[in-house]
Amino acid sequence: MKLMDIFARMKGDLNVIESELAKSVTSDHALLTETSMHLLKAGGKRIRPVIVLLSGKFGHYNLDVMKWVAVPLELIHMASLVHDDVIDDAETRRGQLTVKSKWDNRIAMYTGDFIHGKALTVATQLENPRIHQILSKAMVEMCIGEMEQIRDFFNTEQSIRRYLLRIRRKTALLIAISCQLGAIAAEVGEKEANQLYRYGYNVGMTFQIRDDLLDLCGTAKQIGKPPGSDIRQGNMTLPVLLALQEPAIREPLLREIDRIRESDGTADTSEAIRLIRGSRGIQQSEQLAERYIKKALAALEGLPDIPAKKSLRDIAHFVNKRNY
Ligand code: IPE
Ligand code: IPE
Ligand code: MG
Ligand code: MG
Ligand code: MG
Repeated sequence: MKLMDIFARMKGDLNVIESELAKSVTSDHALLTETSMHLLKAGGKRIRPVIVLLSGKFGHYNLDVMKWVAVPLELIHMASLVHDDVIDDAETRRGQLTVKSKWDNRIAMYTGDFIHGKALTVATQLENPRIHQILSKAMVEMCIGEMEQIRDFFNTEQSIRRYLLRIRRKTALLIAISCQLGAIAAEVGEKEANQLYRYGYNVGMTFQIRDDLLDLCGTAKQIGKPPGSDIRQGNMTLPVLLALQEPAIREPLLREIDRIRESDGTADTSEAIRLIRGSRGIQQSEQLAERYIKKALAALEGLPDIPAKKSLRDIAHFVNKRNY
């Protein structure tokens, strides 16, 4: 199912979120407005705000309240992307130039901070301190995840468990709390809110595993940036770690990874990618992604059968099959 079809029913509400997003990054500083709008206008899937809204449907849904949760979550995500592209030295995102390459790293760092600040500004509309505790904790965890990733650059001996812990922090938690905060804002009961959190966490794990697969198996057109960026940077993702466990692949792949490390990111990664694509690491990663999706779907069981539940199911299937 296409994301557009899943979103169709929520079109009106999403338009409101879209204009709130634009409003929130519009300031009297022209350059900050321009850099933020550049990323906003490049598009993006808007998965997090959509999940916020859908979770709110299980309670007292009021768009005028829900938007104060949905907008900050997309903004926190956007800020992390602007910073991520500095760290990953990425030239393109969403098929457009990144802020760091259209302007420069310094401007990108402050654009990220600015968008973060705006996320907090919007969130002040919400009084419940628990929401702020959950939001800030997720931001801290995301930083830890990214720091751990840097520490593990080119570490070919790291365990799968370490990889999973890292993507839990850097990606899954933000999607999990999109569900949780959407639920809290709509006063969904504790038990259902926890189920939604579990759904989001498991979808989030699949989301990053798929992202890591796409970086190895996708085309530049699909992913909006050149493939192979992770390995060039030293980020040993799940398919790589699994490929390294395969005796016939291990030695040649280690040699390629060494060569990439020594080249300081300039080496051709096509041989490494060929080895990984030819390994069982791809299929095994897909199987793990599938397992998380099953858990996500199981978490929805017992929730009332409202249309939002079907949309969440459709999103889970989309995330598991996504090619952009
Ligand atoms: C990209 O997230 C960063 C990851 C957490 C993998 P998305 O794939 O949701 O990015 P956009 O917002 O659709 O561009
Ligand atoms: C997700 O990881 C980044 C964040 C959580 C900000 P990636 O570095 O793989 O994201 P993309 O692939 O550049 O979007
Ligand atoms: Mg990154
Ligand atoms: Mg990146
Ligand atoms: Mg990626």
